[in-house]
Amino acid sequence: MTSVPVIQPLPVHVAIIMDGNGRWAKERHQPRLFGHKAGAESVREVVETAREVGIRHLTLYAFSTENWQRPGLEVKGLMALLKSYLKSELATMKKNGIRLGCFGQKERLPDDVQATLDHCIAETVDSTGMRLNLSLSYGSRAEMLGAMQEIGRKCATGQLRPEAIDEQLFSEHLYSAGQPDPDLLIRTSGEQRLSNFLLWQLSYAELYFTETRWPDFRREQFLEALQVFVSRQRRFGKTGEQV
Ligand code: IPE
Ligand code: IPE
Ligand code: MG
Repeated sequence: MTSVPVIQPLPVHVAIIMDGNGRWAKERHQPRLFGHKAGAESVREVVETAREVGIRHLTLYAFSTENWQRPGLEVKGLMALLKSYLKSELATMKKNGIRLGCFGQKERLPDDVQATLDHCIAETVDSTGMRLNLSLSYGSRAEMLGAMQEIGRKCATGQLRPEAIDEQLFSEHLYSAGQPDPDLLIRTSGEQRLSNFLLWQLSYAELYFTETRWPDFRREQFLEALQVFVSRQRRFGKTGEQV
């Protein structure tokens, strides 16, 4: 049994852009799906480590609205992998008190994946431990437009006054409703961009970029990212002396 390090202050919510599966596979002269499979192992390990150290919310970018443009075979392979991941992890999630959620256009996922996802979400709805949010067919702009449309409808029917629209109300119309904004965003594999991920919610997140490809991002690398977070001074607009 490995010891659980004490990390202080611990981010309450960590979001991760899991990037680099394809390049990891290419470097090994393997098909891209080989990288995605290895990446699923990293998901297992990072979820387990996050839970162990006491993170309350973990949001993983697994498939973006833009990723539908990838070759059909890759999309198919990713969907199959997602389904098998959910099936194999359900018992562990339940045992560990993890509550699963989905950020994204669930209705665009294949029927069998949707059914498995819904089953896992329903089976873990009463869990009181870490919230695990899988971002699937997720795009931040689409999410915000959906929120605006819903708010607009409420105003049109007189349910809501435009003056009542504030940050909290807007947040409550996003997939992340009821959950705090991420404190830390991790992106693996060298790219330094947000790729349409949580644009509203990441307003004040600490950003951590690493060259490590996602399949190589395991417990040790995750703990290293958390230690870097600990070393950051978050000022939220105030001076260093004020915080
Ligand atoms: C991340 O790895 C996984 C998904 C986007 C589904 P990539 O597949 O983007 O890997 P690279 O960026 O091509 O290396
Ligand atoms: C972002 O990765 C989406 C996920 C990790 C699921 P991409 O590899 O699709 O991002 P871009 O297109 O290179 O920015
Ligand atoms: Mg990529």
